[in-house]
Amino acid sequence: MDYQILVNKDNPLPRAHIPNNLVEVNSKYKDNIKLDKKAYESFILLQKEALKYNYKIDIESGYRDYDYQENLYNRLVKDKGYSYAITRIAEPGKSEHQTGLAIDFCIYKDNKCYIEHEVEELEETKWIHNNAYKYGFILRYPEGKEDITKYSYEPWHLRFIGDISSVLYNNKITLEEYYEKKY
Ligand code: DAL
Ligand code: ZN
Repeated sequence: MDYQILVNKDNPLPRAHIPNNLVEVNSKYKDNIKLDKKAYESFILLQKEALKYNYKIDIESGYRDYDYQENLYNRLVKDKGYSYAITRIAEPGKSEHQTGLAIDFCIYKDNKCYIEHEVEELEETKWIHNNAYKYGFILRYPEGKEDITKYSYEPWHLRFIGDISSVLYNNKITLEEYYEKKY
């Protein structure tokens, strides 16, 4: 598995691409979520560290195959129109969820599960953004980098990237900039 793989609008995956080391995830939020084994093991460590502060992180979305992504994409385009959808959901083949390395996290708090934009203002989210790199994750679509990533700010979407996560975090760069500037 290439943990540093770049998947974006210019670097799509073939329809048939299925990661070879997917494992079943234990999520309270949803059944049948899968992730790359190492990404999941690293997430569990992050989750355990967060629990020390009573921060309850869970997984809302992980691996999505091409067809599943196609359904999500088509539904959002139908509901909100193309120009809204294109900066929020990847076209099929262009989502890094198809690598098994992307995680949409959610937060359990006050008997509620916060998902997507609902996590934005939570202290848990701030903590995750500042600590996930220690476990090999980056915030993949940060605020202020929309021109580079071509997606709106997604405070919930983490990407497992392995050893280089601290380089990206410390330099405040996206994966696109990492490949562009060869840090
Ligand atoms: N929401 C992200 C960009 C995806 O669909 O992969
Ligand atoms: Zn995501």
